[in-house]
Amino acid sequence: MRFLSSVDMHCHPWMAMVILPLLLLLLAPLAAAETWPFCGDSGKFESNSTYEANLRHLSSTLPKKAASSSTSTTLFATDTHGNAPNIIFALALCRGDSNASACEGCLVTAFQDGQDNCPNSKDTTVYYNGNPCMLRFSNKNFLATTVNDKILVVPSMEMPLITSTRADFFRFLLFTLLNSTAESATDSSWMFATSRLDISSLPTLYCLMQCTPDLSTDDCADCFKPYYQLTLKYMDGRKGGQILGTRCSMRYEIYPLGDTMLRISELASAVPAINNTLPPVTVYPQSPVSQATIQEYHGM
Ligand SMILES: *[C@@H]1O[C@H](CO)[C@@H](O)[C@H](O)[C@H]1NC(C)=O
Ligand SMILES: *[C@@H]1O[C@H](CO)[C@@H](O)[C@H](O)[C@H]1NC(C)=O
Ligand SMILES: *[C@@H]1O[C@H](CO)[C@@H](O)[C@H](O)[C@H]1NC(C)=O
Ligand SMILES: *[C@@H]1O[C@H](CO)[C@@H](O)[C@H](O)[C@H]1NC(C)=O
Repeated sequence: MRFLSSVDMHCHPWMAMVILPLLLLLLAPLAAAETWPFCGDSGKFESNSTYEANLRHLSSTLPKKAASSSTSTTLFATDTHGNAPNIIFALALCRGDSNASACEGCLVTAFQDGQDNCPNSKDTTVYYNGNPCMLRFSNKNFLATTVNDKILVVPSMEMPLITSTRADFFRFLLFTLLNSTAESATDSSWMFATSRLDISSLPTLYCLMQCTPDLSTDDCADCFKPYYQLTLKYMDGRKGGQILGTRCSMRYEIYPLGDTMLRISELASAVPAINNTLPPVTVYPQSPVSQATIQEYHGM
C-alpha cells in the first residue's frame, strides 16, 4: 500500500493509532458517500404546490437526461421546467469517469437528499464526498451565467503531510499539480482530467479536476483560478482536500482517484502571488481523520 510505504512510521508513533482503526475499517462495507447539502436562501415552496410538482417532474427527467448524454461522454444536463413564478432551473453533473447507470442512480438520490436536507427549499445544491455527482436546482436562473457558485472547501485531514521546513516546496508541488491538471481538463472535450505527480521524495499526489462540459476552455480555466489560492490557503501541507462548486471541482489525495490520465513530470517555474480577492466559500469543519475520509480511503 502506497500510503503506508510512503510514510515514515518511526517518526510518527501516533500514526499507529490512526492506521490501525483505519485498517480495521477497510474490512467494513463501503457506506454511501457523505452528503454535503447547500440550502439556498430563495424561500420555500408549499407542499402540493405547482413548484413541488415541477420539481418532481425534473427529478424524474433530469437524471435520465444526464445519463443518456453519455454517448458524448459528458454525463451532464441542464433543464428548465414550468412557468414563472414556478419555473425551476436545474443542473446535473456526474464525475467524468462515471458511467450512465451510476450517474443516473446518483442523481436520483441527489434529488431525494436535497429535499431531505433542505425541506421545501426552492434553491438547493447537493454535493457528495468524492463528488460522484452534483445537483443544483433553483427558482433563479443561475444557468444564464457560467459563474461558479456555492463553493465548498473541504480539507480532508487535520494532520500535516510535511514539516514546516519543506512548506515552500510543498506549495510548489500543489500549484504544479493543480495547474497541470487544470490545463489538461480544459483541453479535454469533456472538461475532466486525473493526474499524478511523483517527482519528489514526498508521497505521490493524485488530482482530479472537472468543469461542467458546457464551459469554454477559457471559462473553465477561469473557474479553476481561485482554486489555486483556496488550496494554498486552506489545504497547505495537508494530505488531501476537495473544492466543490456548481461549475468546477478539484480534489487531491495521496492515493489514486480512478485511472490516472496524466503523469506530471515537470515542476511549475513559479507559484503566482497570492490574490486576496477570493470568492466567498464555505469551509467544511476540519475533523481529524473523519469517518468520511476513511470511507473514501476504503473506496479507492
Ligand atoms: C397534499 O395532498 C395530499 C393528497 O391530495 C393530501 O393528503 C395532503 O393533506 C396535502 N397536503 C397539504 C399540506 O396540503
Ligand atoms: C458503473 O459504475 C459503477 C460504480 O463505479 C460500477 O459498480 C458498475 O459496474 C459500472 N457499470 C458499468 C456498466 O460499467
Ligand atoms: C498555469 O500557470 C501558468 C503560469 O502561472 C498560467 O499562465 C496558466 O494560465 C495556468 N493554467 C491554468 C489552466 O490555470
Ligand atoms: C484576483 O482575483 C479576482 C477575482 O477572481 C480577479 O478579478 C483579479 O483580476 C485577480 N487579480 C490578480 C492580480 O490576478
